[in-house]
Amino acid sequence: DKSKPIAEKTPSEASRRVRIGIYFATWWFLNVIFNIYNKKVLNAFPYPWLTSTLSLATGSLMMWISWITRVVETPKTDLQFWKTLFPVAVAHTIGHVAATVSMSKVAVSFTHIIKSGEPAFSVLVSRLLLGETFPAGVYMSLIPIIGGCALAALTELNFNMTGFMGAMVSNLAFVFRNIFSKRGMKGKSVGGMNYYACLSMLSLLILTPFAIAMEGPQMWMAGWEKTISQIGPQFIWWVAAQSVFYHLYNQVSYMSLDQISPLTFSIGNTMKRICVIVSSIIIFCTPIQPINALGAAIAILGTFLYSQVLICSLYKLKKIVLTIPMAI
Ligand code: 3PG
Repeated sequence: DKSKPIAEKTPSEASRRVRIGIYFATWWFLNVIFNIYNKKVLNAFPYPWLTSTLSLATGSLMMWISWITRVVETPKTDLQFWKTLFPVAVAHTIGHVAATVSMSKVAVSFTHIIKSGEPAFSVLVSRLLLGETFPAGVYMSLIPIIGGCALAALTELNFNMTGFMGAMVSNLAFVFRNIFSKRGMKGKSVGGMNYYACLSMLSLLILTPFAIAMEGPQMWMAGWEKTISQIGPQFIWWVAAQSVFYHLYNQVSYMSLDQISPLTFSIGNTMKRICVIVSSIIIFCTPIQPINALGAAIAILGTFLYSQVLICSLYKLKKIVLTIPMAI
């Protein structure tokens, strides 16, 4: 639109960038705080199935209060919406509980290094189950991702198989969550904040019976009394903080997904992991060897290469789509 002065276009683009920047910074900040409190809680009270359930319950309660007090408009949903949400919620529940089980067994940094391998799972699942093909560069970028994660795992000082498998299962589950969400969010009438609220509530319903079966009230009561006697009432604040921050970081991430492409989202997610890995190593004084740090750096670099190759191939595709009609 030539008639529009440049000054009129620039501020809106600039303000969009500022808004996305604020979303990203808030998301990473909330995630770092969640990870710190989550690990503090799990170190003192190793019941990951209960803490995962509490995170979902707190988020569900916060959103339910927001709806009844009309702070947030209640979403208009129908049976079809909940049916489409169900597979997303199953995958979200598995991914969440698996990551928490992992963090109860290994260092936060280790879980997140393995979780930075999520793009590799995404490509493999899309290729093997959905028959999607990718440019050769995408497959090549999997080499540093897989190699880096493998090097980090092999040289991890406090390696634990359950911790490793938990992070791997979480990766797989979140790839399915993304595939199902993409289908479910197509033409959706529910915004990011409410979509995540509904997801939390459904996941809570799914997780609760499994949490009771895996750990159960007897174990929780005994563990709770012991932890309170050792740490004192401040432990309740740790649990509250990990639950509230879990909901908030996910809510902000879903709100930013509304504004950006899934690809920009995945780059943001990788940068978030760098913040979490670095801050948790400092806060928990996690022992790392140079070779271990090298593995993590290679894996994260591979994730960046992966996103760059995908962006380039999408850009090329766009160019072809745009130039063909022009040529005609
Ligand atoms: C969880 O508990 O759900 C995980 O910590 C999620 O990890 P992610 O959002 O960083 O993938």
